[in-house]
Amino acid sequence: MTKTEVDLDPSALADRFPTGFGWGFAASAYQIEGAAAEDGRGRSIWDTFARVPGAIADGQTGDVACDHYHRFREDIALMAGLGARAYRFSVSWPRVQPDGTGAANERGLDFYDRLVDALLAAGIRPLVNLFHWDLPQALQDQGGFADSRVVGWFAEYAELVASRLHDRVSDWMTLNEPAVYAFLGHADGIHAPGLRDWPTALRVVDNQLQAHAAAGAAIRSLVKDARIGVAFDVNQVAPATDTDRDRQAAARWSSARDAWYLDPLFGRGYPRLGLEAHRAAGHLDGLELTDPPPGDLDYLGLNYYRRDSVSALSDRAFDWTIGARPGTEQTQMGWEVAPDGLRDVLLALHAEYAPREIVITENGAAFPDTVDPDGRVRDDRRVAYLARHIAAVGEALAAGVPVSGYHVWSLLDNFEWSLGYSRRFGLVHVDFETQRRTGKDSAAWYARLIAASR
Ligand code: FCB
Repeated sequence: MTKTEVDLDPSALADRFPTGFGWGFAASAYQIEGAAAEDGRGRSIWDTFARVPGAIADGQTGDVACDHYHRFREDIALMAGLGARAYRFSVSWPRVQPDGTGAANERGLDFYDRLVDALLAAGIRPLVNLFHWDLPQALQDQGGFADSRVVGWFAEYAELVASRLHDRVSDWMTLNEPAVYAFLGHADGIHAPGLRDWPTALRVVDNQLQAHAAAGAAIRSLVKDARIGVAFDVNQVAPATDTDRDRQAAARWSSARDAWYLDPLFGRGYPRLGLEAHRAAGHLDGLELTDPPPGDLDYLGLNYYRRDSVSALSDRAFDWTIGARPGTEQTQMGWEVAPDGLRDVLLALHAEYAPREIVITENGAAFPDTVDPDGRVRDDRRVAYLARHIAAVGEALAAGVPVSGYHVWSLLDNFEWSLGYSRRFGLVHVDFETQRRTGKDSAAWYARLIAASR
């Protein structure tokens, strides 16, 4: 599919989706809420990490972010105005348990109570994500996700949130992009908590899989009709060139990362190729993996952004580079735009694991948007990106993949982790000086798509 081939007319696209398809938005607590020291919120590892000199490109933090904590009604009104049917947000663990364990901070839970009520009043279905990386610092001080006690801590936290929201929320997600959290935070050191140790990262994965199961059980015991999932970032992994070496490297990387979670969750244990690759690279040294429990998934959440091309530097495992091929169409993140990859990833997940349902829990693009003098934000490239990716979802649906929803990342421009405020993913522009929100052309386009949907 090329850029010119895609039909940007949203009503033609809308026809390819079933009645009631879950069009929505996704966001996360630390990236938008701000109010970092309000109503008893404790510190998270991102509060700490953002203060490490050089950790964040523009030296900023999420202290204020989009001030969504105070402006959530305005933000919900914006979503409602666009016709959104669903909203995926995350709960900040340190708002609920400032020190990570023990009794709930009721004022923290009150915020999510108000948020859920306002969403429901606006006709928007909430999808609650329990963990989008902002672990209470107090738990990190005790080992964080690398300590197996996190399984109990996480289940206790899940129970507190579910006890409060169980009567109004059926859609739950335990973890967002656990591989990014484990690998970028514990092996690459570019996300909180900023560690660089592979065995620690793989211990984190082991504990995440156990924690998912424990939290899922806690939610099920409290929420009748709960629909529970996890969101994975499965981008398209491809060999950079058609050589044995690159093909082998791509297969090993995909197994050591994506199948490293998906195989256990679908009851197969850790994948052989991934085990070989991690072992050969010394990542399993001194580590005893558990036998991870199968995941109890009502749906698989898929976050998809790009094609990752793998280039082998030698025959050794993990001696490779991963990224966009030079000269390809890329977003401001340097991510290769590959809508056909989304279709192919959906087809592959369906063929390989056959999850009961797949929800696109994130998809979107960063571009350096500006507000024109006439007040418009002409983000044509984002419109094209969305149209092509949504068309790809339509193709997967037509081929029989049970996709039930699509959440754009994101409603608002926000704090993009180690890149600070330098990357704008929103369909709504945010002026971070004034907190003024301005709908971009892509927001109007998405609204037309939803309006044209059954
Ligand atoms: C994903 C994250 C999300 C956001 C987008 C751009 O990896 O889940 O928080 O940063 O990328």
